[in-house]
Amino acid sequence: MDKNTLIHNAKSVFHDNDNPISGAYFAPSRVNLIGEHIDYNGGYVLPFSISFGTWLVVIPNNLGIHRMFSENVPDKGVCSLPVDCFIPAVPNEWYNYPFGVIKEFYNKHFVLSPSDFYFFGNIPMASGLSSSASIEDVTAIALNDITKARLDTLSLVKMAKSCENNFVGMNCGIMDQFAICFGKKNKAVLLNCNSLDYSYIDFILPDDVTPLLINTNKPHNLIESKYNERCEECAEILKSINEVRKDKLIYLCELNSEEMDRYKTILHSEKLRRRFNHVVTENMRVFETVEALKAGKIDRVGRLMFASHHSLRYDYEVSGIELDTIVDIAKNTEGVIGARMTGGGFGGCAISLVKKNKVENFIKTVSDKYPNITGFSPSFYLVCSEDGAKKI
Ligand code: GLA
Repeated sequence: MDKNTLIHNAKSVFHDNDNPISGAYFAPSRVNLIGEHIDYNGGYVLPFSISFGTWLVVIPNNLGIHRMFSENVPDKGVCSLPVDCFIPAVPNEWYNYPFGVIKEFYNKHFVLSPSDFYFFGNIPMASGLSSSASIEDVTAIALNDITKARLDTLSLVKMAKSCENNFVGMNCGIMDQFAICFGKKNKAVLLNCNSLDYSYIDFILPDDVTPLLINTNKPHNLIESKYNERCEECAEILKSINEVRKDKLIYLCELNSEEMDRYKTILHSEKLRRRFNHVVTENMRVFETVEALKAGKIDRVGRLMFASHHSLRYDYEVSGIELDTIVDIAKNTEGVIGARMTGGGFGGCAISLVKKNKVENFIKTVSDKYPNITGFSPSFYLVCSEDGAKKI
């Protein structure tokens, strides 16, 4: 979306407002290459931001209220919201995401004067590519600029996460908000979700290989899914381990696999042992993937992606027939190096690495087989890693 069209569209929605704009902003979406469901366990993750994203234009108004419009939910029309932010989230409303961020700023005494917000996004709906974090981050960078709060990027990421945890009510970890703000072209972000230290890993694949996203088109809704249940199960495992330890753990990912094996015996439920197994082994797979990427061993990266999916499917149980079908087809299709679900799961997208000259055949194979098994038809997107959120 070019800036002039964006501003023109914003001005036509808020046609009664002649003020000059405060600014225009963009935040991408993200794909996680590996390290799934371990950000909230203090593990390592390896996401990258992609070109799908959310655009925002803010225009100050003279009305004493904030007004919001999203081009993606036009039938909701323009929503009016109080500048003092004293209202709770309204279940399932899209504007909870930007409004919760405005509230975060308000609570820190950075009060935005009454403004009109125009949003436009091209992230496929409910695709698990983190449209919610994209809206939160684009709002956070906009408010930081407009209110002259001068907060550093990590503070903005934490406020966006806090909006999601405390206002929207989703217990997500920090990966999405972080990846969207810190993304960099041709890089993946290796983030330690315990210390929040990070580094950039070259994400330059061999010339003949490309990442390909496959959207199951089974909508995923993490608020209603078992996401929060998984967070609680991990908290329960941590509690049981800490009961028998002198130096208490903060996160499960502080343990390596030998320590995990020792502690497994104190967990009385087979289900919790499987959850634990996923968390610790997935963390190890992130290190191995980074090593493999650095060494140019792309086949090894692919095997780790398949192993990650297997663990998410059987041990952590956050996949589903749609994602499993795609990964199963990927395993049996020539030229597919690796594939796995990406993001929260229960639908949404799978990420695959595919030989460029086999992409067409892979798309055809999935398109032929997947709808018969699942009743959904898939979509495909060729992606690469792009820069993070910015003023445009
Ligand atoms: C969602 C959450 C993230 C992360 C992933 C799973 O995208 O928002 O914090 O937990 O699921 O890795």
